[in-house]
Amino acid sequence: MTQFFRDEAVFRALEDEVLPLLIYRKVKRGETSIRIWSAGCSSGQEPYSMAILMRELLGEEFDKFSVSIVASDIDEEVLESARRGVYVPRQVVNVNPTYLARHFTLVDGKYQVSPEIMDMVRFRNIDLFTSTAGSHFDMILCRNVVIYFTREMQERLYMKFHSSLRPGGYLVMGNTETLVGEAVHLFRPVRPRERIYQKADASYP
Ligand SMILES: C[S@@+](CC[C@H](N)C(=O)[O-])C[C@H]1O[C@@H](n2cnc3c(N)ncnc32)[C@H](O)[C@@H]1O
Repeated sequence: MTQFFRDEAVFRALEDEVLPLLIYRKVKRGETSIRIWSAGCSSGQEPYSMAILMRELLGEEFDKFSVSIVASDIDEEVLESARRGVYVPRQVVNVNPTYLARHFTLVDGKYQVSPEIMDMVRFRNIDLFTSTAGSHFDMILCRNVVIYFTREMQERLYMKFHSSLRPGGYLVMGNTETLVGEAVHLFRPVRPRERIYQKADASYP
């Protein structure tokens, strides 16, 4: 049963380092659109965790930005559960108490994600091999999804992610996953231990 903020070190690196830098660059360039794709989102914990982080990091500036989080999966059943946004207590054990109080309501012993956070996430049924969630993403998270894919399928997928990312966009993979094929040369490791990579680009040295 997947938890919110699964893999603490990864979410800590995102919250403390990667997302603040991404926001800083947006401000510097006068850009207001922030696009994130959670590919293989299962029952929604990962995209909602990202929505909570973005909401917290933007604070009072939140309304000045357009934050769009696309969350996709191939399994309609998990998507239905994700759209409900209701979780049992053991799924929220890693949520810091302040965020828990701010972004969840306890209803009949279960935690309901707040409407504000739910509004930031759009769930879509997408097969990663035949379709895409679009382009111009600032970050794509694809964690614990490709483990059963062949190497050739993984190579194709990482190239697809590469073209779906904006210059300097980030790719976040699962702890046991590594880049393969041409993609190895097209991304630079930002936090290799946490499997956070950045689309290599001359304007983002
Ligand atoms: C183990 S879950 C990972 C959930 C989340 N990313 C995490 O790390 O907590 C893997 C998800 O990938 C989805 N998946 C598997 N093959 C897929 C495909 N071809 N296209 C889209 N989603 C797929 C599964 O339905 C499942 O929900």
